[in-house]
Amino acid sequence: MRDLFSDIEQEVSENTNSNNEIEVQIKALRKELDEHNYKYYVLAKPTISDFEFDKKMRQLQDLEEAYPQFFDPNSPTQRVGSDLNVSFEQVKHQYPMLSLSNTYSEGEVLDFYERTSKLLNADFELVCELKYDGSSISLIYENGELARAVTRGDGEKGDDVTANIKTIKSIPLKLHGSDFPEKFEIRGEILMPWPVFDELNREREEQEEPLLANPRNAAAGTLKMQNSAEVAKRKLDGFFYYLLGEDLPAETHSDNLETARKWGFKVSDAVKVCKNPEEVFEFLRYWDVERKNLPVATDGVVIKVNSIIQQRNLGFTAKSPRWSIAYKFQAEQAVTRLNSVSYQVGRTGAVTPVANLEAVQLSGTTVRRASLHNADIIAGFDLHIGDMVYVEKGGEIIPKITGVDTDTRNDDGEKVEFITNCPECGTELIRIEGEAAHYCPNEYACPPQIKGKIEHFVSRKAMNIDGLGSETVNLLYQNNIIENIADIYDLKLTDIAGLERLGEKSAQNIMDGIEKSKEVPFERVVFALGIRYVGETVAKKLAGHYKSIEKLENTTIDELVTVDEIGIKIAESVVQYFENEHNRALIERLKAAGVQLAVSEDMMQPKSDTLEGKTIVISGTFKHHSRDEYKKMIEQHGGKNSGSVSGKTSFILAGENMGPEKLKKAEKLGIKLLSEEDFLKLIGK
Ligand code: IVH
Repeated sequence: MRDLFSDIEQEVSENTNSNNEIEVQIKALRKELDEHNYKYYVLAKPTISDFEFDKKMRQLQDLEEAYPQFFDPNSPTQRVGSDLNVSFEQVKHQYPMLSLSNTYSEGEVLDFYERTSKLLNADFELVCELKYDGSSISLIYENGELARAVTRGDGEKGDDVTANIKTIKSIPLKLHGSDFPEKFEIRGEILMPWPVFDELNREREEQEEPLLANPRNAAAGTLKMQNSAEVAKRKLDGFFYYLLGEDLPAETHSDNLETARKWGFKVSDAVKVCKNPEEVFEFLRYWDVERKNLPVATDGVVIKVNSIIQQRNLGFTAKSPRWSIAYKFQAEQAVTRLNSVSYQVGRTGAVTPVANLEAVQLSGTTVRRASLHNADIIAGFDLHIGDMVYVEKGGEIIPKITGVDTDTRNDDGEKVEFITNCPECGTELIRIEGEAAHYCPNEYACPPQIKGKIEHFVSRKAMNIDGLGSETVNLLYQNNIIENIADIYDLKLTDIAGLERLGEKSAQNIMDGIEKSKEVPFERVVFALGIRYVGETVAKKLAGHYKSIEKLENTTIDELVTVDEIGIKIAESVVQYFENEHNRALIERLKAAGVQLAVSEDMMQPKSDTLEGKTIVISGTFKHHSRDEYKKMIEQHGGKNSGSVSGKTSFILAGENMGPEKLKKAEKLGIKLLSEEDFLKLIGK
């Protein structure tokens, strides 16, 4: 008996020993990977290859999977985000998040300097920093680890967005060194870099989704996404500029920033300690020009008193600190003549007013048109034809009218009144309560709405009907051959071949495309229907939840709002769409034509084991199927999808315009690229 016990004891102690070793190994890997993330994302000076990094990351993932007892929410493996939905808990800020008072001229900055000088009645230094134009964030660190990240909210309380913040690789989850207070807060700005913003808008344009106005809105919207795995894809970044707490490391703000930098935070290099107003002006003038070369949006300079004691003495007003002001850069502006206002009707019937301008140069481009947004904006400016108007680009991609020079107005110009009837079909416009836009309600007889709906239906991300571009849709519509999406499936070769500029071959191509579209999966059909507010992602959620059009047709608002990402606005729009007899009739005809109006059982079943044991990376854009369809095919044939190229990758399913990084990596590792066609052959399609 004794022997048996001592055997068990020995085994337990051996296990503990080896477990200790594993724990040490896991911790060392975490530290090393944190260090490499820091070098790559904060210092922009990587010291190992992506391949080596991925290898170590996989090693850590494998160990963490095998030894879940060593789980750590701040491990570098936890930055990928999760598909689980989160709702944001409201958290009260320990120190309210105030705003700054704005100034717009050197004169006002001088006033601030003199005011401060009088109040302090002593020498003082000022620190100049760039004012980053993103979404402000408060991070709480406890014992050197990120404990919580909270948005500004109303300044008193904000949303806990910790899971989303962790996906931002430049934000330290564990701090460097050990000389940090047990608990402190650091504030900064979460930003979406211009290249990421531009790419996101390119994608949205392709999907006919409304464009994001500027990177600030894009960053704020991303932080509030419910799916942190999606946030991880958005490649946000952040700069940190304000330490708060009882025991701060230094007596000046600039030294605090330097310490924060040492702890691993991304602190801007554009920080200058100034001894007099002239040095401040130098900074303002330099960055007013140089900021255009930065990869992120800035809209001014923040000027702060450097000494923490002096900051405390100056204190706060109800709204902002007395020890700091913001100097706002002038948005790039031009003045030009308003020639006319035209109105565009989109596929959903929304009417957008557009200002037609005398051509003018603005930030290196010629501007002839600018958005006027809606009727309220036009009325607010009391706009007249012939007015000299101010046009700005600011952080926005679409120029906008920001003001009118009423002094130069002559009395000849007619006052601009928002139209009351649709410019295309004459129907009286309506305004939905709570919305700024006017709509043409004549959904089924207003030409741009009819054509817009058909164009959307056939577009690449929807039914992807080859050869049916907007010109052909226009021709078919003008010749009374089609007037809705279901008519497409009644088309005959002779209907198309008879059209001008279309030969037999292109007509056959279109017919083949129509036939092939009957295989397009249900989720894309839901998107193709063009229900207001139902973009690609929402369509996917709806298809995944309801699985068939019958169930979706008969759902209720109450059930809809229980589905991920579906709020009341979308729910109402979906119910309204299916209440409409016209839409129900269209759907019956699509069904009769053989379009996929349910999740196919076939899609759920495994089809073969051709790709068994293969890890496949999909990259680029494709002609025959969507990325999601390829993902499904890989799974159905026993393969595994992976987002990044590594030594484990079996091959890359390469479309057009494959990402340069992936291509470089694939070449380096000697990984084979398979074309779309070869891949389809491989799986017997
Ligand atoms: S300091 C007490 N520094 O500007 C306020 N703010 O209008 C301390 N911002 O809410 C803020 N860059 O979101 C500070 N270098 C910077 C900044 C900055 C951007 C934002 C921040 C703040 C807003 C104030």
